[in-house]
Amino acid sequence: MLSLLLSAVLAVQAMAVLELNVPEQPVVALHSSDVVLNCSFNHTNPFNLSDLSVFWQLTDTQRSVHRYLEGHDQLADQAERFANRTRLFPNQLGLGNASLLLSRVVVADEGSYTCFVRVKDFGSAALLLQVAAPYSKPVVTLEPQSNLRPGDEVALTCVSYGGYPEGDVIWQDAGGRNLTENITTSVVANEEGLFTVTSVITVVLEPNSTYSCRLINPILGEEGYISVTVTGQNIAFPPVALWVTVGLAVCLLVLLIALAAVCRRKIKESCEEAKREAEEAKVLEEEEESKTGMISLKS
Ligand SMILES: *[C@@H]1O[C@H](CO)[C@@H](O)[C@H](O)[C@H]1NC(C)=O
Ligand SMILES: *[C@@H]1O[C@H](CO)[C@@H](O)[C@H](O)[C@H]1NC(C)=O
Ligand SMILES: *[C@@H]1O[C@H](CO)[C@@H](O)[C@H](O)[C@H]1NC(C)=O
Ligand SMILES: *[C@@H]1O[C@H](CO)[C@@H](O)[C@H](O)[C@H]1NC(C)=O
Ligand SMILES: *[C@@H]1O[C@H](CO)[C@@H](O)[C@H](O)[C@H]1NC(C)=O
Ligand SMILES: *[C@@H]1O[C@H](CO)[C@@H](O)[C@H](O)[C@H]1NC(C)=O
Ligand SMILES: *[C@@H]1O[C@H](CO)[C@@H](O)[C@H](O)[C@H]1NC(C)=O
Ligand SMILES: *[C@@H]1O[C@H](CO)[C@@H](O)[C@H](O)[C@H]1NC(C)=O
Repeated sequence: MLSLLLSAVLAVQAMAVLELNVPEQPVVALHSSDVVLNCSFNHTNPFNLSDLSVFWQLTDTQRSVHRYLEGHDQLADQAERFANRTRLFPNQLGLGNASLLLSRVVVADEGSYTCFVRVKDFGSAALLLQVAAPYSKPVVTLEPQSNLRPGDEVALTCVSYGGYPEGDVIWQDAGGRNLTENITTSVVANEEGLFTVTSVITVVLEPNSTYSCRLINPILGEEGYISVTVTGQNIAFPPVALWVTVGLAVCLLVLLIALAAVCRRKIKESCEEAKREAEEAKVLEEEEESKTGMISLKS
């Protein structure tokens, strides 16, 4: 496919008088970043910019990506999805640089672009744009999650998302050997064209097993790696967690009861104290009264 395209491009170049220089290898652009699509031409004699035409278009559909004619951008017939995302470098045009800046690259931008240049002579060349997006770090979950015992069949699910192009998942054991049995991998694209890769491996649990999930992006290389070890300790973990929870609950209950008892005693004490104080006050009052009585008797 690529060689066919290149030979077609070479044929066009051979016929044209003006030689253009574009990258031979696909240009890799990260999703949502900006990219420069290089296209330069040899200008042996100084030329007037109003004599220069630059057309960038999609090779397959010939839809316009960007046009420059008679000293100005001509964007009336530009494909809508490129609106506000393209520009040439005006002060570079006179130096033979007709490169295009494409902003906020999306997956749909991937493909072949043709650069046409005319300064009296005419030439064209095509290049490939390859979009790439890094995957998230893979995450592994176990099913079932609890009460695991050696001999149980367990499904490990490794998920990674937001990447492009389609990633490959490799499962390996503790010794780094590729596991190939009982694996199902599915790839789903979101509305932006970015992929979620989900890979499930079914294994028969051993007392001490390590499984690692590696995610390979065909453009960006290995991107993520996660390793899970299902050990005897892990298998014992759920009961331990249960006992810890029960223990904590019991502690809390005992604490509450003790607190209630202390409170009740305090309340009782303070009630009795109040009662005692009231009685003492009454006694004092009575004494006062008897004193007054005595005084009145004397007078
Ligand atoms: C540009 O011109 C120079 C000198 O004439 C030549 O060596 C070079 O190959 C040319 N490059 C292109 C892309 O036409
Ligand atoms: C574009 O051209 C410049 C200058 O020649 C070079 O440094 C850069 O790597 C090129 N970019 C691509 C994607 O080929
Ligand atoms: C460039 O072309 C324009 C229009 O044809 C003309 O008015 C102008 O004088 C030219 N400039 C030069 C430097 O030749
Ligand atoms: C492009 O920019 C203009 C002016 O800022 C705006 O009116 C227009 O809606 C934009 N078009 C797109 C497709 O974003
Ligand atoms: C063309 O100009 C742009 C902007 O200065 C630059 O990034 C690019 O590398 C240039 N390309 C070539 C082939 O010189
Ligand atoms: C595991 O598989 C991958 C891809 O299928 C391969 O690149 C790698 O060399 C293999 N590794 C081993 C140890 O077999
Ligand atoms: C694959 O699954 C089958 C049954 O589900 C099981 O008997 C076999 O041992 C598994 N193979 C591996 C390598 O775990
Ligand atoms: C599990 O693996 C750890 C470390 O790799 C090792 O120390 C331990 O002895 C192993 N336990 C069993 C039961 O194999």
